[in-house]
Amino acid sequence: MNRTSEHLTLLVSEKQIADTVRRVAAEIRRDAKETTPVCVGILKGAFVFMADLLRALGEPVELDFARVSSYADSDSPVSEPVVEHDISLDIEGRDVLLIEDIVDTGRSLACLVEHLSARSPRSLKIAALVDKRTRRQFRVRLDYVGIIFEGGFLVGYGMDFAERYRNLPAIYELRPRHGDQ
Ligand code: PRP
Repeated sequence: MNRTSEHLTLLVSEKQIADTVRRVAAEIRRDAKETTPVCVGILKGAFVFMADLLRALGEPVELDFARVSSYADSDSPVSEPVVEHDISLDIEGRDVLLIEDIVDTGRSLACLVEHLSARSPRSLKIAALVDKRTRRQFRVRLDYVGIIFEGGFLVGYGMDFAERYRNLPAIYELRPRHGDQ
C-alpha cells in the first residue's frame, strides 16, 4: 500500500452510518406523498450515501444526478459556482429530493436549489448525510440531516481528499501527517 502524508481518524463507523441512513430513510418515508419522487444526487460525493439511502427507502423513485463546479483540491472556491452537469429528467410538478454527502458553506446546494427551483417542481427537499452548520455562508434549509459535525476535514463514504478515499466504507477525519512515521 502507498504511504500517504495524511493521517485518518475514524469518526463514524459503518454501523453508525447504516443506523443513520435507516433513520433518515424513515423520516423521508414518513413525509412521503403518494408520488414517485425524483432523487437528485450531487456528484461526486453523494454517490455512496444516495445508493444506500434509496435502498433503505425501499419506495419507487426516479434517479438523476447533477454537479456543481467543485472546489477541486482547494478549500476555497475560486469563482462563482456553476452547474457543470445538469439533470436530464423533467421535474416540473414533481417532488424532488436533493441528496448531498456534506453541506459546508452551502454554496453547492444554494446554487442547485436556485437552478432547479426555476423548473417549477412541486416540492424540493434536501437530505444531507453530514451538516457542518457552523460553517454555513449560504442560506439553505436542510429537511433531513444525518450527522451534525463541527470539526475538521472528512473523507470516506463518498467524500474525498484530492479524489482519494471516496471508497472507504466509514467516515474519517483527515489531518496532515507530521514527520516520518
Ligand atoms: C463537496 C461536497 C459537497 C460540497 C459541500 O463537493 O460533496 O457537494 O463540497 O461544500 P459547500 O457546502 O461549501 O458547497 P466538492 O465540490 O468537493 O466536489 P465532490 O463532491 O466531487 O468531491
